[in-house]
Amino acid sequence: MPTKTRAPLIIGNWKMYKTFPEAKSFIESLNNSKTAYLAVPYTLIQPLSALNKPNVVIGAQNMNDASEGAFTGEISGRMLKDAGAKFVVLGHSERRQFFKEDNLFIQKKVKRALSDGLDVILCVGETLEQHENHKTEEVLEKQLTESLGDLKEGDFDHLSIAYEPVWAIGTGLAATAEEAEKEHSFIRSLIDKRWGKGASSKVKILYGGSVKPENAEYFLKQADIDGLLIGGASLNVDSFGTILSLT
Ligand code: PGA
Repeated sequence: MPTKTRAPLIIGNWKMYKTFPEAKSFIESLNNSKTAYLAVPYTLIQPLSALNKPNVVIGAQNMNDASEGAFTGEISGRMLKDAGAKFVVLGHSERRQFFKEDNLFIQKKVKRALSDGLDVILCVGETLEQHENHKTEEVLEKQLTESLGDLKEGDFDHLSIAYEPVWAIGTGLAATAEEAEKEHSFIRSLIDKRWGKGASSKVKILYGGSVKPENAEYFLKQADIDGLLIGGASLNVDSFGTILSLT
């Protein structure tokens, strides 16, 4: 059973939004009594980290699996770390869908990020078709098994899972808190079975998909929901601030 002794992890995923002046004014207006994690575009990592705003943790939304090399347009974990990133989101469904990333490629990135000293937020989740065909748990099992491979229990100190049903992302159609809790509990028991009790008790499992100030509290009340990954509602400082204040 999860302990829920730690504060929930609230992560904003800014996707391909915000220039530096927009981001700076967002961060300056954020009430920073609670810790906010922000996965920002690459160009914002260094200047936002340099603001040294207390309780704001800056991360990236993707990286390459190699440490360096002739990969035009790519970025490495070492570069992210050097720019000030503390964590990286990997395997987001938009990366899987639009950039054809598969689980084994994602596993290489997970391992590279951990060895580069970045915390990892690994995203998993089923499509609408898989959901309607009752394939959710089969899909989650495959995504987790193949993306996490032979990770060790200690790696779970630096790894969180975000359960994001693809049909709920950006649609305004969130899962119900009970539906999400069922899958979170499935994910935790799978981690327990494959990577051990130490891993399952410390891994944080976040829900993502149309989280808004109106529904955030219901998710956070669930036993196996340890935080939220928020897209659209993280772009507006009032709505993101309201969600943060619930924690
Ligand atoms: P959303 O996005 O909150 O806009 O649904 C979530 C995500 O893509 O992480």
